[in-house]
Amino acid sequence: MAHTKTLTFADQVRAIPEGEHVETCYACGTCVSTCMIQQKGEPQYNPRRLLRMVMMDMREEAFKSPTTWLCSACDLCYEACPQEIHISGVIGAVKQLALGAGYTSPLETVTVDESLCSGCGICVMVCPYDAPTLVEKAVDGQMDSVSEVDANKCMGCGVCVAACPLGAIARPGVSNAEIVAQIPLGRDLTTVEGPKLVTFVCDWCLRADSDVALLESYPENVRVIHIPCTGRIDPEMALRALRSGIDGVLVCGCAPGECHYKRGTYVSSCKIGLLGRMLDQMSAPAGFGSGRVRFVQIGTQERGRIRAEVDSMLAYLESIVMPVREAGS
Ligand code: FES
Repeated sequence: MAHTKTLTFADQVRAIPEGEHVETCYACGTCVSTCMIQQKGEPQYNPRRLLRMVMMDMREEAFKSPTTWLCSACDLCYEACPQEIHISGVIGAVKQLALGAGYTSPLETVTVDESLCSGCGICVMVCPYDAPTLVEKAVDGQMDSVSEVDANKCMGCGVCVAACPLGAIARPGVSNAEIVAQIPLGRDLTTVEGPKLVTFVCDWCLRADSDVALLESYPENVRVIHIPCTGRIDPEMALRALRSGIDGVLVCGCAPGECHYKRGTYVSSCKIGLLGRMLDQMSAPAGFGSGRVRFVQIGTQERGRIRAEVDSMLAYLESIVMPVREAGS
């Protein structure tokens, strides 16, 4: 009588593209030390442990592990792994099996207001995770093309929220209204000394706690707004700040290739670059406009650089913008 071999958990993971080579992990822990997720507050996050679960047939434990759901495939660990295991690929394979077993993602994801969505497809183009697709649906009694987001693929980065021209997409905690509410109005800060600077900072680019603490230690003229990724920034937010009398806007994000959400930093560098060129065309002398909105990309190894960037921006505003503003007041 023929026997059918029951596939182990590891066999199933290996059978999924990029799930191969899981058995070559020798648990050195390099992946854990390079990953920002554990450092940023999820102590249970541990790719090394998840790979061991795969090899030890601990299916249910792996499906319930936060590691399976929180990995954003930034691939910092892939570059560091001495065994060249595509760890996010293995984690993705485990996630695929977990979804097949009926588990669902616990992450906070975006929602689409179908009555506002025009089906333009920009969210489909910018999403690093292929979460949105355009579907034909009856909206207000009429068939229409609208965006539908797969909650099991969405990582909640908010890149689509910033890109949607109609404001049809929202993510709780970082909706347009919630971010805008944190932007101070320059005209409300007339008694505050020094150039007024709004700093948007991606939560993932500051590895050291001391850098986070430093940002909070600036006086009142520097307002810090935390965002999940610079891809979440809409240039309209920077314009709104400048229009209200804020002197400058600094956007700090991850270095190229290190964005926690894969290409959020690339999307935002394009948008902020375009905004700078637009401001230059509107301003005289040349460079005065774009200098007021600066985009910097901070590498995971560049501890302390945030201070240099904020101080440099303040010095620029002090020397260039303040005299112009004071002459006009
Ligand atoms: Fe830092 Fe995208 S996560 S810029």
